[in-house]
Amino acid sequence: MKKILVSGGAGYIGSHTVRALSEVGYGPVVLDSLITGHREAVPGNIPFYLGNIADEDLVSDIIMKEKVSAVIHFAARSLVGESVQKPDLYFEENTAKTHRFVSTVLQCGVNNIVFSSTAATYGNPEKVPIPEESKTEPINPYGASKLMIEQSFYWLEQAYGLKWIALRYFNAAGAALDGSLGEDHATETHLIPLVLKTALGQREAISIFGTDYDTLDGTCIRDYIHVLDLAEAHIRALEALEQGVPCGAYNVGTGTGYSVREVIAMARRVTGIDIPVLEAPRREGDPDSLVAKVGKIQKILGWQARYSDLETIIKSAWQWHQKHPHGYGI
Ligand SMILES: NC(=O)c1ccc[n+]([C@@H]2O[C@H](COP(=O)([O-])OP(=O)(O)OC[C@H]3O[C@@H](n4cnc5c(N)ncnc54)[C@H](O)[C@@H]3O)[C@@H](O)[C@H]2O)c1
Repeated sequence: MKKILVSGGAGYIGSHTVRALSEVGYGPVVLDSLITGHREAVPGNIPFYLGNIADEDLVSDIIMKEKVSAVIHFAARSLVGESVQKPDLYFEENTAKTHRFVSTVLQCGVNNIVFSSTAATYGNPEKVPIPEESKTEPINPYGASKLMIEQSFYWLEQAYGLKWIALRYFNAAGAALDGSLGEDHATETHLIPLVLKTALGQREAISIFGTDYDTLDGTCIRDYIHVLDLAEAHIRALEALEQGVPCGAYNVGTGTGYSVREVIAMARRVTGIDIPVLEAPRREGDPDSLVAKVGKIQKILGWQARYSDLETIIKSAWQWHQKHPHGYGI
């Protein structure tokens, strides 16, 4: 059985990927500091190490003891607003710590790594859908911290033979179809969980930031990708690295965008609740529309989204929120 070290495997996307890896016969091994993750999100039979990706001794010990053959690297801070307030935190936690982590991984003789990158590497896109070869000019430190990692991987590939795939996720959403795993962030900034927490009565209203964008209904358009499809993309990327596909960045999205109003309308339909809305001014730094061009991942990794229609995304997330109204705490 191939052992895969999953950093951040107790987080939202990591925990779904750990489950998907087990289901197809890999042996995931989780390293997580639990700064934003949840021990309960990782089953008891999966090896779990509480610690930091920057702890070189711990990372080497895990790789040797567990005989790890590849790495999936989710561990990061990912609050865009916080990154603007504290850019130093993001360059340390994301860029510097990833560099120490990947250097240790390489020194231990493990060359294959799949990395969580983001659509935030593009900044304000010149054209939509956004192809991978678009200019990358992040408009916040979070996106910059991830882009620097991608750039460092290119040079580690040239010098030491690192084999890497950076998956640039668009908006991760949804939950395990049985509602047993889902999104539980203490500071929640993502639209779908916020809408559903409003449906549960935990928030008074869902704010729409900006109704005068250059889109059909005036609200921002985003490309929502089901967390199960994301998990599958990581497995395809691992396989592709083994087969020697070219290293680089791949978008993970659907190629279809939904506006904030469309998301709220679908959430009202799925929940049967008339979710209250508050229209608010635009926030700084929100592009009109962020939608992925997805031909590259479909063609080279053979990946297709299967669960990412808006109804499935919201139905699965609603199951999770209804079963776990206070997240993993309950
Ligand atoms: N959620 C999205 O829509 C989205 C979009 C694009 C990219 N991403 C990226 O995907 C990855 C996973 O996102 P998520 O939403 O699952 O986040 P998350 O916060 O739920 O998961 C991150 C996990 O990493 C762990 N972690 C953080 N720093 C660590 C460290 N130094 N050492 C060990 N563990 C550490 C946390 O405890 C947590 O379990 C992140 O890298 C994020 O930037 C997420």
